[in-house]
Amino acid sequence: MNRDLPRSGCETPGKTRAFRSQNEGFSGFGDMTAVPGVGPEWFEANRAWWDERAPLHVGGDFYEVDAFLSGTSALRDFELSELGDVAGRTLCHPQCHFGLDTLSWAGEGAIVSGLDFSPEAIDAASALAERAGIDARFVCADVYDASQAFGSEQFDIVYTGLGAINWLPDIDRWAATMASLCVPGGALYLVEFHPTSNSLEDESLVAEARIAYGMGHIWHDEILSGSYGAEGAATLHNETWERVWTLGEVLSAIAGAGFRIEFLHEFDYTLYRQFPWLIENGRHFERPPEVPSFPMMYSLLAHLDR
Ligand SMILES: C[S@@+](CC[C@H](N)C(=O)[O-])C[C@H]1O[C@@H](n2cnc3c(N)ncnc32)[C@H](O)[C@@H]1O
Repeated sequence: MNRDLPRSGCETPGKTRAFRSQNEGFSGFGDMTAVPGVGPEWFEANRAWWDERAPLHVGGDFYEVDAFLSGTSALRDFELSELGDVAGRTLCHPQCHFGLDTLSWAGEGAIVSGLDFSPEAIDAASALAERAGIDARFVCADVYDASQAFGSEQFDIVYTGLGAINWLPDIDRWAATMASLCVPGGALYLVEFHPTSNSLEDESLVAEARIAYGMGHIWHDEILSGSYGAEGAATLHNETWERVWTLGEVLSAIAGAGFRIEFLHEFDYTLYRQFPWLIENGRHFERPPEVPSFPMMYSLLAHLDR
């Protein structure tokens, strides 16, 4: 068990920054027991982690649930302009957590369905929909079982990300699942934290050998307690399994699943204090002017080519 604390003292929505073991070349939960050092504990540990944190996040400051209930969309401006008019379109949100972004898309007129493997998150999402008076459907299932969970229903738009794909052990299977959720010609809109920034040392921004980019590292982490979304909370389940997917791996998986990529945008700001010296500016965390530009988030729009 490794109890290194993240050096920045900041946990992230997508990952933690301490220890990782490494492994490569496996595909999905079904095969994990065959891979040395990786087994069903990936799924079980992560679900326990999220089950405990979902209710804490609803009550914490990070997600600003009160602002949402008072009418402020949780969506970022670039998401609204990049995806465009969603009114009347069906939108599926895999790994929806407690549904804040899902319900915000409903506020834009989409007919929304969210999915998450955490029963606590799904309960919280349904409760939030009720409090907000928004019509939405939330389903509890593993993301790889999404098509079955929705009875093979297909959607105009599949929206996901912001700390989602790092929790998954097989990116090709993820992309194939996203394709199975789309109607012919349907859109996949993915917004994620940029993998390059995970490989940079906090203070110097030099490439960091122990989190080397593209080496297929699996991060098996044990933080002491707490969560990015509920600072100071005492938690019992603190073990996580994650994988940093490089941009090349993500793009190749999406193209390989039959999508045509329309754009990939990279952003030199992010949504949380990933580095201790980032400057908070409204809902963004930005680099100071003396730090050269480097990518911290990306967005990708693709359409199913069938
Ligand atoms: C950081 S949230 C991302 C959602 C959203 N961007 C947010 O911040 O609210 C990650 C979500 O992925 C879910 N998750 C992790 N692994 C999953 C899996 N195998 N199947 C379905 N959901 C999963 C977790 O329960 C959690 O709610």
